[in-house]
Amino acid sequence: MRIDVVTIFPEYLEPLKVSLVGKARAAGRLDVRVHDLRDWAHDRHNTVDDTPYGGGPGMVMMTGPWGEALDDTLAAGYEAGAGGPALVVPTPSGRPFTQEVAAELSAHPWLIFAPARYEGIDSRVTAEYRTRMPVHEVSIGDYVLAGGEAAVLVITEAVARLLPGVLGNAQSHRDDSFASGAMANLLEGPVFTKPPQWRGRGIPEVLLSGHHGKIARWRRDEALRRTVANRPDLVRRCDPAVFDRRDREM
Ligand code: ADE
Repeated sequence: MRIDVVTIFPEYLEPLKVSLVGKARAAGRLDVRVHDLRDWAHDRHNTVDDTPYGGGPGMVMMTGPWGEALDDTLAAGYEAGAGGPALVVPTPSGRPFTQEVAAELSAHPWLIFAPARYEGIDSRVTAEYRTRMPVHEVSIGDYVLAGGEAAVLVITEAVARLLPGVLGNAQSHRDDSFASGAMANLLEGPVFTKPPQWRGRGIPEVLLSGHHGKIARWRRDEALRRTVANRPDLVRRCDPAVFDRRDREM
């Protein structure tokens, strides 16, 4: 997958050099390029924002620099052999970013991120690129950040781990919280590792039993308990038939 990010804070994206995303890049599974929007500004102050039409507080990012930056980014990508671009615009007014949206984005071979600062980007920019490619306006939660860069980090990490060959163990995202496997729509329950005793605390007996059916059932029950406590809204989206089927297999 190719990822381009156009931002006024390129250094904000430095974390994309470490950990899972950094390794995916080193392994050649992810090609990330970060661009400074101000390279497409036209005055000596490198201005990229202006006051909003209709008045009101704050500033709006201008069409000019964004249009030229996106055109050049697209041209460079096509030149390098990339195809099938999609534009991702992080914004608190976007569609909620979920595991499902992460999977949807991971199917695009090329993502171009346009994180905004200030009050957002002049709306004609997304209108323009929507005629040329899919545009995903996504929100990472019901709170307002100072800009979209942190959202780019979040989205990129969630998408990168879904790319083939990026996770060591292909099973590990199947049973994740929110994934659609046997634990459909449940949060993950508690986990334990050695030593078996710590500060007088042991581990649940069943995990030492070696009985796979009982362990699976215990994990499912704990997952349900945690989901009821923390995310009752998710319980309503569970399909009991999935549990029945799983019980018959155990
Ligand atoms: N930019 C500012 N707040 C945001 C949010 N919650 N999600 C995505 N982008 C944002």
